[in-house]
Amino acid sequence: MKKTILSASLLASLIALIASANLSAAAGAPCGNYLSEDGLTKGECKEAYVDASDKASLQRGAQVYMNYCLGCHSLKYARYKKVSEDLEIPLSMFQDNLIFGDQKIGDLILAGMDPKEAKEWFGNAPPDLTLEAGLRGPDWIYSYLTSFYIDESRPLGVNNKVYENVGMPHVLIDMQGTPRSVCRQMPLIASNGGIKQDPLTGEQLTQEKCGFLEVDNGTGEMTPEEFDQAMLDLTNFLAYMTDPLKIERETIGTYVLLYLFIFTMLSYLLYREFKKDLH
Ligand code: HEC
Repeated sequence: MKKTILSASLLASLIALIASANLSAAAGAPCGNYLSEDGLTKGECKEAYVDASDKASLQRGAQVYMNYCLGCHSLKYARYKKVSEDLEIPLSMFQDNLIFGDQKIGDLILAGMDPKEAKEWFGNAPPDLTLEAGLRGPDWIYSYLTSFYIDESRPLGVNNKVYENVGMPHVLIDMQGTPRSVCRQMPLIASNGGIKQDPLTGEQLTQEKCGFLEVDNGTGEMTPEEFDQAMLDLTNFLAYMTDPLKIERETIGTYVLLYLFIFTMLSYLLYREFKKDLH
């Protein structure tokens, strides 16, 4: 009897394992048409190094969010007060600089725009972003925020590599400058992984590849590096939003492991004492 239960549960976990492997395979290219800098992979997100313990980064992210995103996207499962405490921003400073309109420090973080009107204007209502980092993952958000480009064929004049035909305007265009989707001459890669060369002249062979993102020089308030950092900070802030207890949880986890280790040592010593009496 015991044996059948054991093998049944083993079988069940095996099936679950195979199913989850299939699910992640089905995710395929999570970042749409996003082309990597070397031009070799399409659809793979850029990696965002989020760090919940970097309070300065979270504070900068919150500042961008409250100024540029909250007009449309609420964070309705969070309260201003909790955010100001977690991010170590003094309450009065938070209230004076990061809360707009007649909202109070104890309120939920609601958007300025009525979702129904927004749907009429943009085709899709801007979703709440409290749990966005859990839904899409930080890499996706970071790639999305850095993937807007000029596309005159779209109603808002912009498009996005990660989220093709998105209904969101490029709200950070002044900060970033004018991003364009451009073509570049890229080296041709041979089947052995080396760069293909012309057999007669020895010149490297190239091929035109399109879809790289480039910002027109000098059009943004920030340099490309500064903009990238700002988007990392914003992503970090959204990752914190989804999982505000991460730091606490990890600290508690360390203590639990420490406790278990000490407890194991004590049990072992006790076991040795008991064993002495047995022989
Ligand atoms: C003018 C209104 C507006 C502003 C401001 C705005 N967004 Fe959006 N955003 C939208 C709309 C509308 C969509 C839905 C687009 C769609 O589904 O086609 C969207 C979609 C998104 C999505 C994708 C949601 C998903 O998973 O489908 C993310 C992430 C996002 N916005 C982040 C931001 C961030 C971060 C900011 C601040 C820098 C911001 N948005 C500012 C209107 C806005």
